[in-house]
Amino acid sequence: MRDRGNQSGLGVAAAGLLVFAALAGAAPAPAGDAGVVAAGASPPRAYRWVALPRVVPSPPENPANPAKLALGRRLFNDPRLSRDGTVSCASCHDVARGAGDDARPTAVGVGRQRGARNTPTVWNAGFLSVLFWDGRAASLEAQAQAPILNPVEMGLPSGHEAVRRVSAVAAYRTAFRDAFGDGRISFARIAQAIAAYERSLVTADAPYDRFVRGDAGALDAAQLRGMALFESIGCVRCHAGPMFSDASALTGGNPLRIFPANHASMAAPLGLLADRGANRATAGPGVWRVPSLRNVALTAPYFHNGAVADLHQAVRLMAATQLDVALAGEAPRAHYWLSATQVLRRRGRAQLSARDVDDIVAFLHALSGEALCARVRAREPGPASVAIDTETGPAGAHRCGVVTPATQRTIGDQEP
Ligand code: HEC
Ligand code: HEC
Repeated sequence: MRDRGNQSGLGVAAAGLLVFAALAGAAPAPAGDAGVVAAGASPPRAYRWVALPRVVPSPPENPANPAKLALGRRLFNDPRLSRDGTVSCASCHDVARGAGDDARPTAVGVGRQRGARNTPTVWNAGFLSVLFWDGRAASLEAQAQAPILNPVEMGLPSGHEAVRRVSAVAAYRTAFRDAFGDGRISFARIAQAIAAYERSLVTADAPYDRFVRGDAGALDAAQLRGMALFESIGCVRCHAGPMFSDASALTGGNPLRIFPANHASMAAPLGLLADRGANRATAGPGVWRVPSLRNVALTAPYFHNGAVADLHQAVRLMAATQLDVALAGEAPRAHYWLSATQVLRRRGRAQLSARDVDDIVAFLHALSGEALCARVRAREPGPASVAIDTETGPAGAHRCGVVTPATQRTIGDQEP
C-alpha cells in the first residue's frame, strides 16, 4: 500500500456506501472490498505519483536472455500455434502495428469465432499481478498456455500438439537450445519464452512519466487539472501506482473489485451485468480485476465486453458506478434507504462537470507511451478514425504527448 494516499473525505463516504450495500444485501463481500474499507481507516497521507520502471523483473524460474526473448517474439507471431494455422497471439494482440490489442469490442479467433470479452493490450502486462479481466491467471507463464488451447481463440487440442508443431521446425530446435541451454521443447517452455518476450513490452515514455521524472512542461494545464481530479475524486483508490491499477506488484493493492459498485442501471443497457467475472456465486454484482490505464487512450473500446467506444463515457461510467460521483445535470446530493436498519441517509456527493470529464480524459491521454502512440496514430487513415476523441477538442489535442496551446486553465480553477 506504499503509494496509497489521501483517503479522507470522499474515501470515507465511499466506504460508507459500501457498508450500505452490504447491509442492504445487494452485494456479496468479495475480497475486493476489504481493501477499500481498510484503506479508509488509515491516516491520510499525500498520494505519491510514480513513473513506470523501464524494466520488468523476471521471475527466478524464468530468467530472461536475448535468445529467449527472440524465441518468444517468434512464437508470439507464429500462427502454427492455432488449429488451422491462421491465428497467432499477434492476430489479437497487434504489437507491431497496433496498441497490443485488436481494436474490436470482443476478440475473433480461429474460424472467425467471436469471444465474449474484449482483448486487453499486452503492453506493460508484465507489471500486472494477475491477468485476464477476472484475474484468473497469476503469471504471464500461466496465462500464455490458455489462448493456445482455448477453442475460440487458437484452438489446439493439447499442449502436446503445440510441442509437436514447434518441434517440426529445425530453426525452433536451435532457438530452444540457445534460449534454455538444451534443446528440449515443452509446452511450459513455449509459454516461458512467450512470457519473457512479453516482459520486454514496456511503455515508460508517456508524458506522465516524463512529468514525474522532472519535465514540468510534459503535461498541459488541462492534463494537470485532470491528474488532480483523478486523485481527489478517488480514481486512485483502485487505479493506483505507476500502472494505474491495484493489480500490480508495484502498488500492492487489492487487484479485484466490485463493478458496478453503484448505479448498476447505468451499466445494464451496455450489457455489463451479464458476465460477472470473478464472482462465481449465483448472485451479486460482478467482480473484476482493476485494469491498467496505461495506453488506455489507444485501446478503445472499453470494459470487459468492449461495449463503450468513447473514453469520456468510460470515465463518466466509472465516476458514477465506482465512486458514486454526480455527473453534470445530476443532483449532487443523494438519499440512501438502508432497508435493513430502516434508516434514511442523505449526504453530499462530489460532482463532475463536463469539463472535469474532459480534463480527466486529457490526463488519460498523457498515459500513452509516446513511441507507441505515434506509431498507432500514424496508421490511422484520417480524422474520421479518431471519432472516439471528438469531445477532446481541436484535432491533435492531447494526442501522443502533443500539448495543447496554452489555455487559461490552471489547477484549482473553480467551476462557474
Ligand atoms: C482470439 C484473440 C486472442 C488470441 C489469439 C490471443 N489472445 Fe490474449 N487475450 C484475448 C482476450 C479476449 C483476453 C481477455 C480474456 C479474458 O480476460 O477472459 C486476452 C488476455 C491476454 C492477456 C492478459 C492481459 C491482461 O491485461 O490481463 C495476455 C498477457 C495475453 N492475452 C497474451 C496472449 C498470448 C501470449 C497469446 C498467444 C499465445 C494470446 N494472448 C492470444 C484475446 C486473444
Ligand atoms: C472501486 C474501484 C475503481 C474505481 C474507484 C475506479 N475504477 Fe476504473 N475500473 C475498475 C474496474 C474493476 C474496471 C474494470 C471493469 C470491467 O470492465 O469489468 C475499471 C475500468 C476502467 C476503465 C476501462 C479500462 C479498459 O481498458 O477498458 C477506465 C477508462 C477506468 N476504469 C477509469 C477510471 C477513472 C477515470 C476513475 C475515476 C473517475 C475510475 N476508473 C475509478 C475499478 C475502479
